[in-house]
Amino acid sequence: MATAKRVMLAGGVLGALALAWAVAEVADPVPQADLERARQAAGQLKGELMKSLTAALAEGGPSQGVRVCSEIAPGIAARLSRDGMTVHRVTTRPRNPANAPDAWERELLDGLAAAHARGEDVVELVETSEEKLPRGAAGSPKRVLLYMAPLTVAAPCLQCHGDPAQIDPAVKAALAEKYPKDQATGYKAGDFRGAVAVRIERP
Ligand code: HEC
Repeated sequence: MATAKRVMLAGGVLGALALAWAVAEVADPVPQADLERARQAAGQLKGELMKSLTAALAEGGPSQGVRVCSEIAPGIAARLSRDGMTVHRVTTRPRNPANAPDAWERELLDGLAAAHARGEDVVELVETSEEKLPRGAAGSPKRVLLYMAPLTVAAPCLQCHGDPAQIDPAVKAALAEKYPKDQATGYKAGDFRGAVAVRIERP
């Protein structure tokens, strides 16, 4: 990915402070409109999911929450994905194998995980790349933007992602049935969990 650019935007007082991770190329900056769109989509996914999850936990307990996470999360992601934009959650320790990252997402996930391990408050990571159109297609290369916002584990998440010995047996049974390859337990509050990944393609 020779043409790739990486920009890391750090949180904190100087929220908009841009730290160039690799090369800061002024000639071809990250398109601001796409970046804004990606930010909004990631925020919406996080916000709506949190709301549904909190409501489901209050109403029906963690077993109800399992349903929310398995049905509502992909539903919200699918609804937000349109007009050249796809939104989903990725992690290197997936519960649902469909949420495993591709090579590019993994690179950025590793970057976010490393920043988290260093105690840096990184709120997003964005990279653009030029990808050739599929063979046979006419036209110019396609520009793709990949945006990632980190997800960390909070106390309520532990009901389904914490120490297996502490997870309610009914929840454990529901998870085991639906996700026989679950890798997403054993987390502690504050751990890095993964990211919301937003990809925007431009012809
Ligand atoms: C009530 C149980 C429950 C709670 C509470 C819960 N999750 Fe999940 N989580 C799930 C289930 C079930 C899935 C699988 C969803 C799917 O099939 O796409 C999942 C998937 C995920 C994924 C997608 C990657 C993967 O492993 O498949 C992330 C990221 C995630 N959860 C983060 C969180 C965070 C952060 C919290 C706390 C804010 C949280 N979860 C709370 C049950 C839960």
